[in-house]
Amino acid sequence: MDRYAVIGNPIAHSKSPRIHTLFAAQTGQALSYEALLAPLDAFVATVEAFRAAGGRGLNVTVPFKLEAFDFADRHTPRALAAGAVNTLAFGPDGVLGDNTDGAGILRDITVNLGCPVAGRRVLLLGAGGAARGTILPLLDAQPASLTIANRTAVKAAELADEFSTGPLRPLGCGFADLAGQDFDVVINATSASLSDAAPDLPAGLYAPGSLAYDMMYGKGDTPFMRAAREQGAARLADGLGMLVEQAAESFLLWRDVRPATAPVLAELRAAL
Ligand code: ATR
Repeated sequence: MDRYAVIGNPIAHSKSPRIHTLFAAQTGQALSYEALLAPLDAFVATVEAFRAAGGRGLNVTVPFKLEAFDFADRHTPRALAAGAVNTLAFGPDGVLGDNTDGAGILRDITVNLGCPVAGRRVLLLGAGGAARGTILPLLDAQPASLTIANRTAVKAAELADEFSTGPLRPLGCGFADLAGQDFDVVINATSASLSDAAPDLPAGLYAPGSLAYDMMYGKGDTPFMRAAREQGAARLADGLGMLVEQAAESFLLWRDVRPATAPVLAELRAAL
C-alpha cells in the first residue's frame, strides 16, 4: 500500500490524516496516510527515513515548510512564488516540492463559496508566509486590484514589489492607509486570531456584497469574522474549506484524481 503522511511539530492535532483517508475511500485509492512527528532539529532525517520505508509523499506543516522547500530537488512555479513547500512528492526523478495552499483558498472562495475573484477588488491582510503563498494564485485569478496591507507597512510594500513583475501590480500599505477605500473580497492571512485578536482596521472597508475570509478556523466565528460582521461584510467564511481544498490539490498531485471535497468538508465541520 502506498504510504503518505503529514509531517510537523506538533502534529497530533492535524486533520490531514482524516481528510486524506476520506479522500482515499471515496476515490478507491489504496493508500495509507499517517501523522509524522519530526523533532525540531531532524526534519530531513525524518523525511529520509519515511522515504526509505516506502513513503510516496508528504504534506508539510508548521514549522517545516521552508526546510521542505530546501529539501525538494524541483519546485512547481507556485511553490517558487510561495517560497515554501507544503507538499512533497517522491518520484523516480527526485523530490518535487509543491505548494497547494494558495490554490486551496482560491478554490474555496471561487468554487465552494461561489464568490468570483476576477474583476473584483481584493484586500489581503498580512505579509507573512500565509499571505505570500496566496499572492500568485490571486494574481492569476485576475482581480481588478490586489492590495496587500500589513500591521508593519514596509513588509507589505516589499511583498507587493516582489510580485510586481506581471501586468497587475499589487499595492502594499499599512492598515491606516486603507481608510476611505472599500473592497469586494477581504482575506485575513495574519496570525492575529492566534492571540484571539482581529487586525486593527479602519471602518468602511467592506463594499456591499463583500466577502470576509479568514484563513484561520475554529468552532465558531473567529475574531476577524466577528469584526467583519460588525463592519458590514455581507458574507463570512473561515479557513476550514481552504484546509480541505489544499489537501485535495495535494491528493490530485500524488494520485492524479481530484476527490470531491464537499462531503469531507461537511464531516469536518460537524466534528469541530
Ligand atoms: P504566517 O506564516 O502564519 O503568515 P508569520 O510569517 O509569522 O506567520 O506572519 C504573521 C503575520 O500576521 C504578519 O503579517 C503579522 O504582522 P507583522 O508583520 O506586523 O508582525 C501578522 N500579525 C500577527 N499578529 C497580528 C495582530 N494582532 N494584528 C495584525 N497583524 C498581526
